Order: sequence, then C-alpha cells, then structure tokens
Amino acid sequence: MNDSLIKNRMEIINCMNGTYHNDIKQDVINGLTASRKFIHSKYFYDACGSHLFEKICCLPEYYITRTELSILRNAAPAIMDHFQEGDIVELGSGANWKIRALLDTVPENKLSNIRYIPVDVSETALKAAAEELLKVYPGLKVLGIVADFTRHMEIIPGGRDKLFVFFGSTIGNYNKDECNTFLKSIAASMTTGDRFLLGIDMLKPKDILERAYNDSSGITSEFNKNILNVLNRELDADFNLDHFNHLAVFNTEKERIEMYLQANRDVSVKISSTGLKVELKKGETIHTEICRKFSKDNIDRMAFNAGLSITNRFSDPEGWFSLIEMALLNTAHH
Ligand code: TRP
Repeated sequence: MNDSLIKNRMEIINCMNGTYHNDIKQDVINGLTASRKFIHSKYFYDACGSHLFEKICCLPEYYITRTELSILRNAAPAIMDHFQEGDIVELGSGANWKIRALLDTVPENKLSNIRYIPVDVSETALKAAAEELLKVYPGLKVLGIVADFTRHMEIIPGGRDKLFVFFGSTIGNYNKDECNTFLKSIAASMTTGDRFLLGIDMLKPKDILERAYNDSSGITSEFNKNILNVLNRELDADFNLDHFNHLAVFNTEKERIEMYLQANRDVSVKISSTGLKVELKKGETIHTEICRKFSKDNIDRMAFNAGLSITNRFSDPEGWFSLIEMALLNTAHH
C-alpha cells in the first residue's frame, strides 16, 4: 500500500501547542516544594518512557496487559456486535494491540464505516500506532487527536455513534476525585446508544500486586527513574538517577500500589530553568504514581455516581481483571 493511500485516511489534530513547557515547570515547582514531594505521573511518558512502558506490558510479572488482552479477544465479538458503524475513541492510546482485538472482528468490507480516534499526549507514539493500523485495516479512517484528554474532551467530534475505550487500568492512576471528574466528563460526551469500555484491575493478594510493580529485570525501576531524565532534559535539572531507588508498595488500607523514588543518600538538586534547589534527606521519597485496585462494589458505585449504567462485564477465570461496558444511565437499551 503506498503512502498517499494511507495519508488520505489519516488526519491529526494537535491541541497541545506549546502548553507542555509551561505546564511541566509549574507542576514540578508545585510538586517538589510540597511537604511530601511528588512529580505528576503524566511526565513518565516521553519517547523513552513510552518505550519502557511497552516493555513493562510484556513482563512475566505484569499480568495486567496479557490478562486484559485475552478478555478483550473473547469479548470483542459481543462488543462489536452492536457497533457496525461510528467512531471508536481510545483515550491514552499508546500501542495499538488492544484496538486491533476489536477491529479484527469487523469484516473487511465494513471497515470503512469505522473511524478510529486515538487521543494521546504523544504525537510520535500516536502517529506510529495509527500508521500501522491503516496498513493492516484497509478502509479504516483515523483521526488522531494529540491532547490531554483529562482537559480536552470537548475536542472529540460529535455526530456519530461512539464507542469510548480506556484500557490498561489507567483509571487506577487517578485518585477518587479525579476518577469521578473523569467518568463524568466521559458521560457528558456520550449520547444515547454510545458505549464506554473500561479496563479495571481488581484487588488481589498483595504479593501478586507488588511483584507486578517490582519486576526482577528492573524495567519498572528504569521506567520510574526515567521521569528524572525528563526533568533533567526539559527543565535543565541535574538529578543523578543512581541516587534514587525505585519503591513500589501495596497500601492495604487505601487499596493501591504507591510508587516512589527514594533518595539513597542526602541529595541536592538544581532545577535550573525554574531557579529551584531541592534538598532530600537520605530515605526521603518523591511520590510518582498510584495504581488503585478495585472491587465489584467499588466499580458499581463509581459508574452510578457518574450517571453510567453497566451493560456488560467481562473477566478472566481468576477474576484478576475486568472489562466493564457501560452506557448512559436511564437510556441504556439492552
Ligand atoms: N496504568 C498502569 C498501571 O496502573 C501504569 C503503570 C504500570 C505504571 N507500571 C507502572 C506506572 C510503573 C508507574 C510505574 O498498572
């Protein structure tokens, strides 16, 4: 297939224009001057971080990706049965393995009825994933939106039936308030008949969870520390990655993995472009991520609070992961 045939089916809208630099400066100042230091997890995903995360997804300890993918492969015919025409909107698209499980169920002569709308902060990752899809699925159209979907939901065009998808239990990376705000913003973008497919990691024994975020090959550690490289590059900071250890522990009471970078000596860092000097005592931590784990009750409550009703649940035999299909409350016709 030649390049022009692919380009004609792809359009990209970029909403991030230049906001990234102002944001990172202010976010990092806020986070590293707080009494309990933190760095916002969205800064994990530069090109290197996105690549490391793809490696995490293939780790033997990280059951999440393969479990979700196997559920999705089984559920795809049932999900796509009500969706023969319209837009599939994927939030935080990253690599394209999961969307392919859905598109594989669409007969080739029906592919031109479907438009895939990936929304991601990384334009390079988004383009690469989209181009691959266009090669595999003739007739498919792609509208890539480079945006922070927690802030730019209104940019997603209306007018056609929609299937929103949000995979990887990324919802677990939000705290309760962010979760509610996010689900409500999805609900606000949905109309009658639209669906929302949400991948959620379930509560399970602590040792299995901790192993998933402390892999034996050290990729998760590398990924966690890479956020310091991002600050070094973007803000002209001088973090030495060897002065920090990766720490991921399950907080049983809060039902979440908490991820930290812990100083293994007294550390002093200059973040030149912000004029900030940051001191850490040996043992002090910088919080980088939470990965919440859910129960069925918790999911039911979250959906209901956002005005969503659950139309279908899919899981693996062990119940480690759930794929939840939702529609607007009251208007669900099932
Ligand atoms: N959404 C992923 C999760 O909650 C993100 C993730 C996986 C992650 N491994 C990580 C984030 C390690 C930070 C560090 O499982």
